[in-house]
Amino acid sequence: MLTTEVYFLFLLITQGSSQDYRSIRLKIEINTKYECNHLSCASSMIILTSTLRQCQISCLTYSHCTVVTFNSLNNQCELFPKNSLEDGNYTVQINTITMISMDNLQESTLTTESFTTSTTTVTTTQMNPCELGNLRWNTTGITIFSLSPSLIASGVFVDLNGAVYFADEGIDSVVWKLDKNSTNATVVAGTLGSRGTNSSQLNFPNDVYVDRLGNIYVSDCANYRIQKFSNKSNIGVTIAGISELNGSELNRLNCPRYLTFDATETYMFIADDAQHRIMRYLTNATTGDNGVLVAGGNGVANQNTSLNIPWGIHYMPSVSNDLFITNYGGHSVMRWTPGASSGIFVAGVPGVSGSNSTLLNNPMGIKFDAYLNLYVVDNYNHRVQMFCANNRVGITIAGNGTMGDTSIQLNDPRGIAFDSNMNMYIGDYGNHRVQKFMKL
Ligand SMILES: *[C@@H]1O[C@H](CO)[C@@H](O)[C@H](O)[C@H]1NC(C)=O
Ligand SMILES: *[C@@H]1O[C@H](CO)[C@@H](O)[C@H](O)[C@H]1NC(C)=O
Ligand SMILES: *[C@@H]1O[C@H](CO)[C@@H](O)[C@H](O)[C@H]1NC(C)=O
Ligand SMILES: *[C@@H]1O[C@H](CO)[C@@H](O)[C@H](O)[C@H]1NC(C)=O
Ligand SMILES: *[C@@H]1O[C@H](CO)[C@@H](O)[C@H](O)[C@H]1NC(C)=O
Ligand SMILES: *[C@@H]1O[C@H](CO)[C@@H](O)[C@H](O)[C@H]1NC(C)=O
Ligand SMILES: *[C@@H]1O[C@H](CO)[C@@H](O)[C@H](O)[C@H]1NC(C)=O
Ligand SMILES: *[C@@H]1O[C@H](CO)[C@@H](O)[C@H](O)[C@H]1NC(C)=O
Ligand SMILES: *[C@@H]1O[C@H](CO)[C@@H](O)[C@H](O)[C@H]1NC(C)=O
Ligand SMILES: *[C@@H]1O[C@H](CO)[C@@H](O)[C@H](O)[C@H]1NC(C)=O
Ligand SMILES: *[C@@H]1O[C@H](CO)[C@@H](O)[C@H](O)[C@H]1NC(C)=O
Repeated sequence: MLTTEVYFLFLLITQGSSQDYRSIRLKIEINTKYECNHLSCASSMIILTSTLRQCQISCLTYSHCTVVTFNSLNNQCELFPKNSLEDGNYTVQINTITMISMDNLQESTLTTESFTTSTTTVTTTQMNPCELGNLRWNTTGITIFSLSPSLIASGVFVDLNGAVYFADEGIDSVVWKLDKNSTNATVVAGTLGSRGTNSSQLNFPNDVYVDRLGNIYVSDCANYRIQKFSNKSNIGVTIAGISELNGSELNRLNCPRYLTFDATETYMFIADDAQHRIMRYLTNATTGDNGVLVAGGNGVANQNTSLNIPWGIHYMPSVSNDLFITNYGGHSVMRWTPGASSGIFVAGVPGVSGSNSTLLNNPMGIKFDAYLNLYVVDNYNHRVQMFCANNRVGITIAGNGTMGDTSIQLNDPRGIAFDSNMNMYIGDYGNHRVQKFMKL
């Protein structure tokens, strides 16, 4: 017969931050699993938390949480919403801890003597604002620049002075710069209206990055190269790939999409769309032939060893050693340590497209913040999804899900960037405009 020791104790978690102060009392049952298989049960939310404490805090910050279980073997934290309690049941399961919010228990339950009590107070100063529900943007966008029908804005970038740059894949075939507070953009790379392959032309420019010295890097997708424009020159130098030659060789690219740089701007990482791989190049390169494969490159598949039309990419080594990559073709987001043979899926369901909160449909641009909250442009759903760190449930922060040109809508959104105040900029491709969403 299976025997188990069941301990009960009370835990009081108090969460403090300048704006928020909440607390919850949890009754803790060790080696107990709570399950709710009944049809009447509301669906639970499963997140991964590295510690029991994080799991408890998640219950605190998930306003409807009444019961939470933590499995210390796989770090799975399952949050059950309101009204779950009376429908579920408890079973013995080693390594699982069930915690019940005292606020949902009857007074009589509180006074039974079957458990001992103790109280713990936890104060965490660095609380993820996403989990507190404090990370919001005004969903009414502001058009900071539009040019119809020629502007087809894809990748966007904001420099340290707040100037916004955007790659224009349309007949303009250039990169634009819009100074802070300005309404008039100027061309900073390419020749307006002249699509082509020479050093002053671009061919479906997809993304732009500007380094601290003011050098402009452009992913020149249909020329299979990355062009670097220095010293305000309109003559670009190919520093990755070979102009007009695509292929799987390490010195070639096959439609480079979005770019990301490390903090020292020593390396750039390129989403090499049609080769299903991420390539790394030195930013001081003067030829296109010193590429290093750092992720994927194993053909196309929805498995953790492959990428599936990688499009968006972000890297911030001060926060994580991993690249975060959108699989446009695979409807998923992966994190991948450069050079590793496989990555981990962190958002979306590999190979499954859809429009509910756990699914994506052709994700493109991606960014993450210091808490590892993810921001993903969900292109075919015409929305921007935010995933709080380690959470697979997305929250829509821009676009209402229906393609359109009103201020609350997007049409074929692609690139994403944030300024130093976390205002968000979106390349609203199909609407021939760049939208700004103010941080609230
Ligand atoms: C309680 O557990 C039993 C046995 O595992 C299961 O058959 C039943 O469906 C559970 N009841 C509810 C309400 O979840
Ligand atoms: C959002 O932006 C709209 C338009 O600029 C403005 O009218 C509204 O007050 C803003 N909402 C909030 C909550 O700031
Ligand atoms: C932009 O406008 C804000 C407020 O109007 C002002 O404080 C700021 O100095 C301006 N910045 C630039 C670069 O002109
Ligand atoms: C915008 O810039 C162009 C040149 O780039 C100039 O001809 C035009 O007058 C400017 N418009 C405004 C409103 O500043
Ligand atoms: C590129 O081609 C365009 C159009 O033919 C031409 O005007 C321009 O001078 C060329 N640029 C260079 C650097 O050759
Ligand atoms: C840009 O200008 C600086 C300073 O004049 C010079 O040292 C550098 O070589 C120039 N870079 C290019 C690519 O011409
Ligand atoms: C190069 O690109 C063209 C056009 O996208 C494509 O048809 C061809 O298969 C590519 N070649 C290689 C070697 O990938
Ligand atoms: C380019 O950068 C790398 C890494 O910082 C460095 O080792 C190399 O010397 C640099 N090359 C040139 C030509 O400056
Ligand atoms: C990749 O997936 C396989 C099963 O498909 C799994 O065994 C392996 O642990 C996964 N690797 C990582 C890094 O998650
Ligand atoms: C989203 O849809 C998929 C597929 O139908 C389903 O498995 C998943 O549970 C849904 N997610 C939510 C949050 O409803
Ligand atoms: C999005 O907004 C548009 C314009 O107001 C409206 O017609 C459409 O029904 C909205 N879509 C959803 C899903 O609410």
